[in-house]
Amino acid sequence: MIFEQQLFKRFWHLVCHRREIQNHGDFVRFDSPCGEVVVFNDNNSYVAFDNLCPHRGARIYSADFGNQAASCQYHGWTYFNGKILVPNKADFNNCDVNKASYNTYLLDWCGDFLFVGISPSKSLYTQLDATAEVLENISLNIEARHDFSRYKYECFWPLAIENALEPYHISMIHPNTLATLELSDGKNVLCEDNSIWYAPIGNSRIQKQIAGLSRFSDIDYKYEGYISIYLFPFTIISSTYGLSYSLQNFFPSSPTDQTEYTNFTSRLLTVNAKSDRAREILKPFFDATAVTNRQVFEEDHSICKKLPKSSWNFNRPKYSADSEIKLLHFRDICKKFSLSLDC
Ligand code: FES
Ligand SMILES: [Fe+2]
Repeated sequence: MIFEQQLFKRFWHLVCHRREIQNHGDFVRFDSPCGEVVVFNDNNSYVAFDNLCPHRGARIYSADFGNQAASCQYHGWTYFNGKILVPNKADFNNCDVNKASYNTYLLDWCGDFLFVGISPSKSLYTQLDATAEVLENISLNIEARHDFSRYKYECFWPLAIENALEPYHISMIHPNTLATLELSDGKNVLCEDNSIWYAPIGNSRIQKQIAGLSRFSDIDYKYEGYISIYLFPFTIISSTYGLSYSLQNFFPSSPTDQTEYTNFTSRLLTVNAKSDRAREILKPFFDATAVTNRQVFEEDHSICKKLPKSSWNFNRPKYSADSEIKLLHFRDICKKFSLSLDC
């Protein structure tokens, strides 16, 4: 089995926040190197599965997210309350149709963040290490999903991840967006396979403006600067001042796809507001943040497209700036994991 599939199988992956699937029928769908993964709310239980009907294999969900019963459009098999309801069940005499079930995956929570695992090699909290406490705190302050965007990054997935792991490119690639924050070098914390970058904001005007908006939020956790948390292997969460969080998944394409690309999904998750009035006041700021984030990702995508697959390997690059330390850490972890597969 190829490297990407092993990474997908052996690790937990952050797929959504509790608020994204809080009602019966709410779902989020992903493409992964191991096929599709859907997480949905089944009458207030949560189910993750491969999006394939156990009857004759039709896909159940085709949208990226939404609210829809887990019902197959071909012959009407429907998953409800943990069971598959089969129309005309008495006509199934040559098989035990009661045994039909979805091909489900494991789920676990860190605070209000939901993780999916196929056959993870560690418990979720062991995998997350010190990032778990930060994630719990963040997740419990989130109120809603404000924006959802998805497209295919036309590049090999480690290159997209590495681009997100180093701030060295910010002034060149994001001069009118991210660079305006004037982030300082800050501090990198390596937590097992994961890492966190805490960077103070140098632009005092922006700092003041965002700090001013904070009084409309009802939160008990924030980093007063820019924070970027990398969850090995495919997920990044970043935030400016803890008012909203950008959750990004970089899932590799399937080995059966003809060209190499990255299934990129980004969501803007916004935090609890103090009141309805405060929510109204914060809305234009969150709208503007969603637009800026989309622009930042487009800027990243446009440079990532210029990186050929052959520019990546498991070894550390010959030349690297101090600010590229998380990238070096990423390559080391990939190499270690790859070697563990060879044994
Ligand atoms: S393929 Fe789904 S009900 Fe027949
Ligand atoms: Fe970037």
